[in-house]
Amino acid sequence: MKILLFGKNGQVGWELRRSLAPLGEIVAPDHDSDALCGDFTDLAGIAETVRRVAPQVIVNAAAYTAVDKAESEPARARLINAQAPAVLAEAAARLDAWLAHYSTDYVFDGGGTGPRVETDPTGPLSVYGQTKLEGERAVAACPKHLIFRTSWVYAARGANFARTMLRLAAERDELRVVDDQIGAPTGADLLADVTAHVLRDVAKSPRWAGLYHLTAGGETSWHAYARFVIEHAGRAGRPPRLAAERIEAIPSAAYPTPARRPLNSRLDTGKLRGTFGLHLPDWRVGVTRLLDELLAG
Ligand SMILES: NC(=O)c1ccc[n+]([C@@H]2O[C@H](COP(=O)([O-])OP(=O)(O)OC[C@H]3O[C@@H](n4cnc5c(N)ncnc54)[C@H](OP(=O)(O)O)[C@@H]3O)[C@@H](O)[C@H]2O)c1
Repeated sequence: MKILLFGKNGQVGWELRRSLAPLGEIVAPDHDSDALCGDFTDLAGIAETVRRVAPQVIVNAAAYTAVDKAESEPARARLINAQAPAVLAEAAARLDAWLAHYSTDYVFDGGGTGPRVETDPTGPLSVYGQTKLEGERAVAACPKHLIFRTSWVYAARGANFARTMLRLAAERDELRVVDDQIGAPTGADLLADVTAHVLRDVAKSPRWAGLYHLTAGGETSWHAYARFVIEHAGRAGRPPRLAAERIEAIPSAAYPTPARRPLNSRLDTGKLRGTFGLHLPDWRVGVTRLLDELLAG
């Protein structure tokens, strides 16, 4: 199996380089490579890359993910999140190839308190959410598509919420974190592993093409997540200066950002678990492993 991977240096793309390796040969163009175009702002170049590589599977982990900046750069966000995926969908359909793509809880308006299923109405609050929704629709035009909607993605590599909380709790005497956005922190490693499992399964049955919600199990708020991080550091013998109980809970309204975030980011993952017989561990499992890695360094 030949796999064409875009976004290889992102949180998810980095983990996909590991998880997809046993499935076949991976061709992963650089963002700014001369040899094969991997730049999503060059639509003709992307189409030419797919034509030249002629893969059986395309995995798209590239995206414009700067949620706040997207508010002032809607054309660029749309180009990368919607128009480039549309080119991939057309090219994949022509090759009868699979196209795996990632989307976000930000396609929803965040109302209510229950978990959303795949068929629930969307209503993005931000340019990022709107362009990701347009990308979903474009990718769904490819008969063999897999769209994984996920939330609150973190990875051990690079910046992440846990690392930021550990740093701030070491530096500051007070910390305020929003407590009215509810979701499930989801590891890029889990996303990549599930993608590989699903790609193996769908190779046997194209009828499983579709849109799936994919997050870790359970739910939390950013505030409770921050407390979990600091409490874990304490248990690991590395208590920061600021104690977990001193982290103040604030509403999103007290922390205005250019892009509005949904309050309810709960996604129902029953369709994915039922279709592919997969277990999605509680978010604390992945975050504990992340913290063990961060605190060991
Ligand atoms: N992060 C989250 O919390 C979250 C939540 C829900 C859904 N998602 C979705 O999950 C997927 C993976 O996200 P992630 O967290 O891994 O994102 P990420 O770490 O920001 O990685 C995005 C990747 O896209 C690449 N990229 C940006 N502009 C590009 C362009 N013009 N041409 C080609 N590549 C370009 C980046 O390359 P450079 O680094 O070289 O710029 C980077 O490798 C995305 O579809 C995202 O929308 C993420």
